Order: sequence, then C-alpha cells, then structure tokens
Amino acid sequence: MFVIFGNPVSHSKSPLMHNYFFKKMNLNHCYGRYKLEDGSKIIDKFKELKIKGANVTIPHKEWAYKLADEVRGVAKEMGAVNTLVLEDNKVIGYNTDGPGFMEIIKEFDYKKPLIIGAGGTARAISYLLKADIVNRSENRLNFFKEKGFNTYTWDNFEFKDYDLIINTTSAGLKDDSLPMPKEMLEKIFKNAKYAVDVVYGRETPFLKLAKKYNLITRDGLYLLVYQGILAMELFLGKKLNKKEVEKIYFEILKD
Ligand SMILES: NC(=O)c1ccc[n+]([C@@H]2O[C@H](COP(=O)([O-])OP(=O)(O)OC[C@H]3O[C@@H](n4cnc5c(N)ncnc54)[C@H](OP(=O)(O)O)[C@@H]3O)[C@@H](O)[C@H]2O)c1
Repeated sequence: MFVIFGNPVSHSKSPLMHNYFFKKMNLNHCYGRYKLEDGSKIIDKFKELKIKGANVTIPHKEWAYKLADEVRGVAKEMGAVNTLVLEDNKVIGYNTDGPGFMEIIKEFDYKKPLIIGAGGTARAISYLLKADIVNRSENRLNFFKEKGFNTYTWDNFEFKDYDLIINTTSAGLKDDSLPMPKEMLEKIFKNAKYAVDVVYGRETPFLKLAKKYNLITRDGLYLLVYQGILAMELFLGKKLNKKEVEKIYFEILKD
C-alpha cells in the first residue's frame, strides 16, 4: 500500500496514475490519498498506516524533510522531501521533484532561469537549476539567501534577461490569480523563451499569459509524470524503462 499525503489532496492525480501503472504491470499494489492536517504527524501516520511508501505534496514537504528517519540524495541539499520509502523499518526521505523537473527542460536552450515562489518545490528545482528566485513575501527567501542565490520580493525585483520562467507557487491551482502582478510578468515574458508551471489539472492564468507572448510552455502534468516515474523506481527498488513507463502515465492522464 502507498499513499500521497497532502492538504488539500483531493485534486491529486497520483493515485490515478500509479494505480493504472500497477494494473498495467500486473503488480498487486494499491495507491491511495491521505488528507493530513498536521504535517508534524507525517512520519507517525506513515508508520501507523503500515504503508511501504508515500508521496508528499503541499504543504508538508518541509515537515517530511525534518522528520524522516534519514534523508538521502539531493533532498539533503534541498530541504524538501516528496517521496518517503520504508527501508529496513526506517522511513527514508528522497526528492524526485528536482530531478524530474530537469527531465522536462532537457531539450530547452536557456541561459537565465527565474523561479517564482520559494516553497518546497522551488527548493527542489533551484538546487539543480541554479536560478534566481522571486517570491511574494520575504520570509521563505532566507533559505535561498543562505545558500547564495539571488533572491527578490516583488518590491526589489530586478528585470534581467530571464529566458526560462518557472511558476512554483500554487497561484492558479484553485483560482484565477497570477503568481506575480500582471504588469511585472508581462515585462518578464517579453524577453523570455520558455514558461513552465508546476500546477496541473487546468490551464493556469500564468501559462495563458505566457502563450499570449508566444513562449514555449509545459504544464505541471510533465512534472507529475517525471517525478512520479522516479518515485516509482524508489518504491519498487529498481530502475524502470522510463520511455515505456512515461507512455503508460501519459496514457491515463491525457483523458
Ligand atoms: N506537477 C507536479 O508534479 C507538482 C510537483 C510539486 C508541486 N506541485 C504544485 O506546486 C505548488 C506549490 O507546492 P509547494 O509544495 O512548493 O508549496 P509551498 O511549499 O506551500 O509554497 C508555496 C509558495 O507559493 C507562494 N504562493 C502561494 N500562493 C500564492 C499566490 N496566490 N501568489 C503568489 N505566491 C503564492 C508562497 O509564497 P509566500 O511565501 O509569500 O506565502 C510560497 O512561496 C502546488 O500547487 C503543488 O500542487 C506540482
């Protein structure tokens, strides 16, 4: 048994795609969703549910990082965990968001990336991407400042020649808000080539605006698929044929 922990979690497509994968591969496993109100209980709940693995989504990735019995791989530097796996009775934390994101932009020819947002997903992506960060408020930027990133709030933002713009905020997930004031985004998009949103399930105002400026776009479905494939490798404890598995995941998510 596997679950995704989050709050909200009802919108998550992880159960759909992972259960479809199990069925296609004839694996006798099951993947559910668990709405967790209190992130500080995440590891207790993992153990109580007697599951073998879990994904972690908004807003609990930092709790999962802090509380996992051990954190491995890039998650250590990122300070955020999106995958928990039971190994020898210990709950081990990993992060597949960052490596999954790098798969999406593998073929992009970019020079100066900008990340909007400073939460768990921004931590995961920025570590591998080495981008500048802009966030609505100051507090969460401290983590990035300490690590030497250029960080900005909307008030002190400097317009540079950013060509790859990534929205890692949840703006547009349930409403029609943009992750930054519209005039600022328009000025950024004028010089950019690519826009990637991590939100999936609907076309966000961020991607709609990017398309108006003829940017090449990718929505959050791509990240969902690639972080999911890497998580599945950890759940099963073996490497998968990514091209084959990618087809299975997109097949079920397209509808
Ligand atoms: N496609 C995928 O597979 C995938 C993978 C990972 C995450 N996601 C999605 O990514 C989103 C963020 O997740 P997370 O775990 O990084 O969240 P998080 O840790 O809670 O961070 C949220 C960030 O978004 C900012 N924010 C929230 N609402 C905003 C708004 N209306 N305008 C501007 N900024 C806003 C926050 O700014 P403040 O600091 O000012 O509050 C913060 O920087 C979620 O929607 C999640 O579902 C998708």
